[in-house]
Amino acid sequence: MDLVGTVVVAVWAMLPAYVPNNAAVLAGGGRPIDGGRSLGDRRLLGDGKTWRGTAVGTAAGVALAVALNALRPAAADALGVVLPAFPPAAMGTLAFGAMVGDIAASFLKRRTGRRRGAAFPVVDQLDFVVVALALTALAVPAWVGDTFGLPVLVTVAVLTPALHLLTNGIAYALGVKDEPW
Ligand code: CTP
Ligand code: MG
Repeated sequence: MDLVGTVVVAVWAMLPAYVPNNAAVLAGGGRPIDGGRSLGDRRLLGDGKTWRGTAVGTAAGVALAVALNALRPAAADALGVVLPAFPPAAMGTLAFGAMVGDIAASFLKRRTGRRRGAAFPVVDQLDFVVVALALTALAVPAWVGDTFGLPVLVTVAVLTPALHLLTNGIAYALGVKDEPW
């Protein structure tokens, strides 16, 4: 596969894990997952992790994976790239894993004394892909093995922080997100 093909496959395969965070920002609010509880003198997760944001984010990722499967033949033709189809289990684990990664990062942020919204470089940019891929690898190892060869994995690791900063920067500029990270 050439570089363009590798980048196209990396973005295509990760889109169901990319979109949940953005959907959660738009849909967030309501009851926090930790119910306001603290661990020691700090919040368990904080008000930035809500049931609604998590549910809508996961649903958005799954819906996108369903749409991508439908678009795949036409997109593969137009782009001249062999694109992966998402098995049902991968749809759920990519989307839900992304949300779990983000929630786990908030847990770590609170434990390390970072307030809600504080930046946690590297963790903020990669938490969701690491957990999304790990959960998916447990659920559908053969699909992950076939789809994520080393070049695709390296592309994901390099491209994800850039895309994350770009989309969050746009969301901040539009006034829908409180911080640009
Ligand atoms: N959000 C949500 N539920 C989630 C993730 C995000 O409701 N599971 C919404 C919240 O409104 C949150 C916003 O999306 O404030 C931005 O998400 P994020 O940057 O991940 O949260 P922060 O508010 O920055 O909190 P933290 O420091 O814990 O990451
Ligand atoms: Mg934040």
